Amino acid sequence: MKEKIEQILGEVKAFNAESKDALEAFRITYLSKKGVIPALFADFKNVAPELRKEMGMKLNELKNAVQEKVEEQLQKFESQHGSEADFDMSMPANEMKGARHPLSIVRRDINEIFEHLGFTIADGPEVEDDFHVFSALNFPPDHPARDMQDTFFIHKAPDVLLRTHTSSIQVRVMEQGKLPIRIIAPGRVFRNEAISARAHCIFHQIEGLYIDENVSFADLKQTLYHFVQEFFGEGTKVRFRPSYFPFTETSAEMDISCNICGGKGCNICKHTGWVEILGCGMCDPNILISSGIDPEKYTGFAFGMGVERIAMLKYQINDLRLFFENDLRFLEQFELA
Ligand code: PHE
Repeated sequence: MKEKIEQILGEVKAFNAESKDALEAFRITYLSKKGVIPALFADFKNVAPELRKEMGMKLNELKNAVQEKVEEQLQKFESQHGSEADFDMSMPANEMKGARHPLSIVRRDINEIFEHLGFTIADGPEVEDDFHVFSALNFPPDHPARDMQDTFFIHKAPDVLLRTHTSSIQVRVMEQGKLPIRIIAPGRVFRNEAISARAHCIFHQIEGLYIDENVSFADLKQTLYHFVQEFFGEGTKVRFRPSYFPFTETSAEMDISCNICGGKGCNICKHTGWVEILGCGMCDPNILISSGIDPEKYTGFAFGMGVERIAMLKYQINDLRLFFENDLRFLEQFELA
């Protein structure tokens, strides 16, 4: 029996588990009720009385060795967990769960169309000051858009507010003083409005600004026409209606033929066959001057569109609130990453 114990002891000491499962198998082989160690203890009663002391000590040594081995190897696996040794860069990623938000899809697709035309993406802060949101864009001091009813003020003096449109990014880009300018600026905007199916206090816009020599209204029309054909499909009609914005002259709003009823008239287009998707115009020379740009040499156009409005048309969604409620039944319907 002594030789047998010595032999097993040698095996136990040499054991090195390759995996947690192998370690568990080892533990079961030696320590479980029907394992090697209990069997040896059962044999112990057959040992001659003069050998019992020595055998007893040997047996306990073996049992301790097995327990220590199990502990030691277990620690090895636990300390490896999450460490570099466990991190296999070549492993395929877990299956992607979830879908892109419809607003992200629409913003990405719009960005792409303008990037193909050579526009680059610009950015600006959501927390702004009166100058960049209003004054620099020619909003008179008593313009209703500045009113507390429309604008979320963080504090009044010095004025810190949430931008009500992405046109503030026009100012930020012009300030940098590099010409020509050809940017689009997607961003979140804030207006103090009651939340309903058609209005929300948070929404998204994409601003466009193009300033160079000889930029004309024809360029504006052609750029936006191209965008509409790409985004809504060939054959979508556009029309421009005269409008007013303090920072553009001339100003227009652009409608597209309702892509839901094909222009025949439905609830979405209020039976007119047309839906408005953006405001636009030629940059007012005063705006250029106040940004240090010579209006004799440079002209430009700008436009601003609502991302929610365009997403509603694309996906035929009739309630704006769905975009912000994070209801999985709504979100799961959109394309996977
Ligand atoms: N900023 C305007 C709005 O929010 C839209 C606009 C942008 C109009 C650029 C003209 C040029 O209504």
